[in-house]
Amino acid sequence: MSDALWYFARGSGVVSLVLLTVVVALGIGARSGRTAFNLPRFAVNLLHRNAALLAVVFLVLHVVSLLFDPYAQLRLFDLVLPFAGNYRPLWQGLGTLGLDLMIAIVVTSLLRHRIGARAWRAVHWLAYLCWPVALLHGLGAGSDNGTVWLWAISMVCVAVVLAAVIWRLTPHFTRFPQRAERKVAERLRPLEEVR
Ligand code: HEM
Repeated sequence: MSDALWYFARGSGVVSLVLLTVVVALGIGARSGRTAFNLPRFAVNLLHRNAALLAVVFLVLHVVSLLFDPYAQLRLFDLVLPFAGNYRPLWQGLGTLGLDLMIAIVVTSLLRHRIGARAWRAVHWLAYLCWPVALLHGLGAGSDNGTVWLWAISMVCVAVVLAAVIWRLTPHFTRFPQRAERKVAERLRPLEEVR
């Protein structure tokens, strides 16, 4: 049974990392205000949001299965307090930090109509910290840290995020910057103000 848990924990961790990579790329795609893969802009936004929620589901499966895995020796507070673990504290702590950042990003996104665009955006920038922290955790904490397959998956994730970030930094990234800004602002303003 503990072997099954161990495989499940590793698998769900890898799926969560891959989904997180897709989320970052789709987030950048959505911010560009362009359509992608023949999908309208609202569909790119929806994909970004739903991929993020799915990444959280796999992350919950990852940490809950590790809680019951006798080898990981996780305590409940290891899930929120970074760098205090018994097992590879630095690498495991990066995972905890990634989880804390993800909780902040997801909660503020769900509450963005209440907290306002400025606060939401400030927290959302933490995604650029969350992703590399999760990547390093995956490479360092796992039993598969030396395997070709885990490195290959991680390097594909690095290539996808690097390409998206480089595109994000190009001068023509937003084709209609003013229109995109105004639309986002309208959606984030409380309903009474928009009326
Ligand atoms: C953003 C959040 C996280 C992501 C994307 C993530 C992803 C991963 C990945 C890809 C692995 C490598 C699996 C393998 O070797 O095949 C891993 C391993 C591991 N993670 Fe996470 N993780 C996250 C958060 C956490 C948290 C919060 C904890 C608990 C405090 C945790 C504890 C562990 C442990 C103990 C391992 C080693 C499992 C083993 O090989 O025995 N992770 N994680």
